[in-house]
Amino acid sequence: MAAFAPPPGTADIFPAEAAAWRMLESTAAKVFSAYGYGELRTPVFEYTEVFQRGLGGETEVVQKEMYTFEDRGGRSLTLRPEGTAGVMRALTNTDVANGTEQRVFYYGPMFRGERPSAGRRRQFHQIGVENVGRCAPLIDAECIAMLHNFLQQIGITGAEFTINTRGVAADRAPAEALLREYFAKHLDSMCPDCRTRFERNIWRMLDCKQECCQPIIADAPDYVSAFSEESRNYFEEVKTALTRLNVPFKVSSRLVRGLDYYVHTVFEVTHSALGEQIAIAGGGRYELFLPGEKRPLPGVGFAAGVERLLLVRNALEAAVPDTSGADCFLIGLNAAARMENLILADELRSAGKNIALELEERSFKAQMRSANRSKAAYTLIRGESEMEQHIAIVKNMADGTQCEVPEKQLTDYLLKNI
Ligand code: HAM
Repeated sequence: MAAFAPPPGTADIFPAEAAAWRMLESTAAKVFSAYGYGELRTPVFEYTEVFQRGLGGETEVVQKEMYTFEDRGGRSLTLRPEGTAGVMRALTNTDVANGTEQRVFYYGPMFRGERPSAGRRRQFHQIGVENVGRCAPLIDAECIAMLHNFLQQIGITGAEFTINTRGVAADRAPAEALLREYFAKHLDSMCPDCRTRFERNIWRMLDCKQECCQPIIADAPDYVSAFSEESRNYFEEVKTALTRLNVPFKVSSRLVRGLDYYVHTVFEVTHSALGEQIAIAGGGRYELFLPGEKRPLPGVGFAAGVERLLLVRNALEAAVPDTSGADCFLIGLNAAARMENLILADELRSAGKNIALELEERSFKAQMRSANRSKAAYTLIRGESEMEQHIAIVKNMADGTQCEVPEKQLTDYLLKNI
């Protein structure tokens, strides 16, 4: 059996679920376009250094989770673990480097070698945006408000927004010194991972999930107070704008995010349906060096996990309009009827109707079963006697009523009535 199951952490998405996926993607496109974003499609794999440089060599994703392989020429390639680094790479080839603002959105599969569990996949899908080339608190607020708007539009209510500031690079040393002094005193009672993080990336200690570390982290010093006045003012402006935009949020100095490129505003969205540990979306402001550029490019963006959005929607029982049913199912009880049905289906489909039909020789009963399975609103039936009389029977599947329609008027009748 194993050979027929998809590899761990991946899944097949069957037509019944695909309708919800498509709804999320089309709503995203609609909402983001209204804010001036255009779609960007980048390759699913990139040269490995795009992620190493972009995400930071010390991040968990780069160290442990990337799917990396060599092409035939021996160049190291990696399946994208996230979208931001590739988008920035692509934008190098636009006029963003000359100071033009670029607003792009994307969706597609991402790959991380994580241990699979509910809501944690090895191939998962993100819907994301990047606003590149500008740096202002109001842009960060606009971006977060757009995510809020998107969640509302896809029927996710009750999402919780948590925000924090990471300051800028120059703020880090004094803040880190504060944290180092504090955590050094408590290292003995912290988990082994935190002891490693103390040496390699002290910020990640703040979002450790181990129980033994919780009380210690809760009492950690307020490192944001050690940030420059400029950074603190930036954060204040973001918060003021979010309040004016009616986006509810809470502030948590424990939110540091897993990727190294962030500066200033960071945010994450959770939902009680999945619990606090599982984010349905995350993002923030960042600075990324494009290859060959001396100055980093500023940007802000987020990505939402499609599988997780769907889990929340299912928990909320948010209805997807059922568009899976055919408008009409065509039943043909002899060869001539099936040929006419094939031609009729072609005409109706060209006019945008969703038509299902049986083209193999099968019994009336079997074809009726298929019609029911197709959830067709109407069924058209013709056999030998209908063909002789040049008519077809059209049956309304909801109330069982039926009528005879002359062959010549069939197309017009169906276009108007089904
Ligand atoms: P991230 O927080 O690593 O950020 O991922 C964003 C979202 O992708 C998460 O909140 C989650 O919903 C989903 N996700 C991540 N890993 C998995 C997984 N293994 N299985 C299922 N869903 C997952 C980024 O990727 C940044 N590039 C976001 C960003 C854009 N920041 C600035 N611009």
